[in-house]
Amino acid sequence: MPRFAVILPAAGSSTRFGGTRSKLVEELAGLPVITRAVLPFVQRSDTHQILIATPNDPYAIASPASQNLARLDDPVPSGQTNEIWSALSRDATVKNRLGGQIALVPGGATRAHSVLAALKRVPAETEWVAIHDAARPLLSQELIDRTLAAAVEHDAAAPAIAVQQTIKQATGPLPARIRQTVARDQLWALQTPQIMRRVDLLRAYEECVYPLEQVTDDLQILELTGRPAWLVAGDERNIKITTPQDLILAELLLARR
Ligand code: CTP
Ligand code: MG
Repeated sequence: MPRFAVILPAAGSSTRFGGTRSKLVEELAGLPVITRAVLPFVQRSDTHQILIATPNDPYAIASPASQNLARLDDPVPSGQTNEIWSALSRDATVKNRLGGQIALVPGGATRAHSVLAALKRVPAETEWVAIHDAARPLLSQELIDRTLAAAVEHDAAAPAIAVQQTIKQATGPLPARIRQTVARDQLWALQTPQIMRRVDLLRAYEECVYPLEQVTDDLQILELTGRPAWLVAGDERNIKITTPQDLILAELLLARR
């Protein structure tokens, strides 16, 4: 299996979570959410670099002049400590790699902008990139393996779950009149990691004329520019922390592991 770089978009504002601080620094069974999202990659020998896109705060992220890559072990001005930096440095395994295998980069205004900012820092010799939501703390090694194998076979892949709910199309806001029921046998809820070739994604971003503000995942950039992308079986446990209820669910899932 090939070696790959990992991009963790972590620059969101956690609005639906409540928004006073990043949901990614919330405690989940003794570890911050973001640390749990990083660890599955740290534990692998085929992960050669992990780039974390964090809120673009010039005071919180010190940038070494030599390489413009924000290094986590650089001094952070006192009183301006980046909360993501602090959360990550609490775990010894992660802390030891900060500034080395793991680096922080300034993110952007939307998820796609954050991914692109990190993608531009991935070394040119890297063939594959895996993009994983920093808000998905329950990722298994099996899911990484399955997605990576599908990407190598088909150029790009991501895990997905069959949509269980009955989906209605209506023009909001509620109350809204139903226009139709959408057949659910072709609908899939997307998860991460999304894995593809670095150059394919970079070129797709260059070619994409669709507004990045409306792009919600990275396979979409490939689709919009006519590149193939495949879905593999996702994992019901690989939830994204969006609201405080998701954190409760994640605690329960972890307790039963
Ligand atoms: N993300 C990012 N840069 C942005 C927006 C989102 O890197 N400008 C990241 C988030 O930090 C998160 C992932 O993309 O890890 C998925 O986004 P989401 O769950 O929507 O998180 P938030 O955008 O923070 O939450 P909300 O939409 O409720 O504000
Ligand atoms: Mg968001």
